[in-house]
Amino acid sequence: MNFKKIIFLLGMVMFSIAMVNAQGAQYIGAAKCKMCHNKAEKGEQYNKWLASPHAKAMASLKGADVKNPKCLKCHSTAAGADQSLIASITVEEGVSCESCHGPGSLYKVATVMKDQKAAMAKGLVMPDEKVCKKCHNEQSPNYKGFNFKEYSAKIAHNDPTAKK
Ligand code: HEC
Ligand code: HEC
Ligand code: HEC
Ligand code: HEC
Repeated sequence: MNFKKIIFLLGMVMFSIAMVNAQGAQYIGAAKCKMCHNKAEKGEQYNKWLASPHAKAMASLKGADVKNPKCLKCHSTAAGADQSLIASITVEEGVSCESCHGPGSLYKVATVMKDQKAAMAKGLVMPDEKVCKKCHNEQSPNYKGFNFKEYSAKIAHNDPTAKK
């Protein structure tokens, strides 16, 4: 076996380990994130999300549409996810943290969260435009177009103490 092949195989092994680590991560719901992400001096992410249209997305569905899978897939994280991955998230919380940041049962531990690389290996997503476009697209009957910069600013919940 030549050197290149060994490096390639090693890469594959590392990749598989990362995948296995994030596999089986379950949706825990915004209330769990709130325990650590609602301090005013750190940007109160929970309160900002709660005041955003995402937290109210279920209120937009009326009548039979409250149970219509065609609407729920974009209006509710819990209803739109693989049901075997549901831990403590509720349908009513609408588009929750984990639609953008990935299911949190494995990364929610403070020691893991403090290290972005470790958290990402456990399923944390730092969302880019592609993540938004899973829902902000023409399949939405009320699609109004999507400008990542503009839309991100409207839901911003950054931590003023984070070094970036
Ligand atoms: C036990 C406490 C705890 C819980 C629960 C928790 N986090 Fe965190 N999270 C942290 C800590 C600590 C950091 C590191 C930054 C800091 O000190 O605020 C962090 C960082 C983050 C970051 C930024 C990563 C970076 O490197 O910029 C995101 C995004 C995040 N958490 C999302 C979530 C989401 C979504 C949930 C719920 C599914 C959640 N967290 C649950 C403690 C927690
Ligand atoms: C799981 C689906 C989903 C994802 C992913 C998602 N959104 Fe949304 N977004 C929605 C839904 C549904 C609404 C409408 C909520 C309502 O009013 O019922 C919405 C509304 C919004 C609005 C308000 C628009 C308006 O007309 O006032 C903004 C801003 C927004 N999203 C930004 C983003 C950004 C930025 C991202 C990516 C970082 C993102 N969204 C990811 C589903 C999603
Ligand atoms: C592909 C994802 C997607 C699907 C499917 C979807 N929606 Fe939405 N919906 C959104 C997004 C994203 C928004 C935010 C509007 C925008 O900024 O484009 C939204 C906004 C809305 C709004 C608020 C409209 C407004 O004035 O802002 C209503 C009401 C709504 N959707 C109802 C529904 C119903 C009813 C269904 C099912 C028949 C449905 N949606 C299916 C993504 C979706
Ligand atoms: C609609 C998508 C979306 C939702 C819902 C969402 N976030 Fe975020 N979040 C983002 C984006 C986009 C960023 C910026 C990522 C970057 O800087 O690369 C971010 C950044 C963060 C950060 C890092 C802030 C910083 O400045 O370091 C934390 C912590 C965080 N989110 C926690 C949460 C929590 C907790 C919830 C739910 C209560 C939540 N987010 C809901 C999209 C979302």
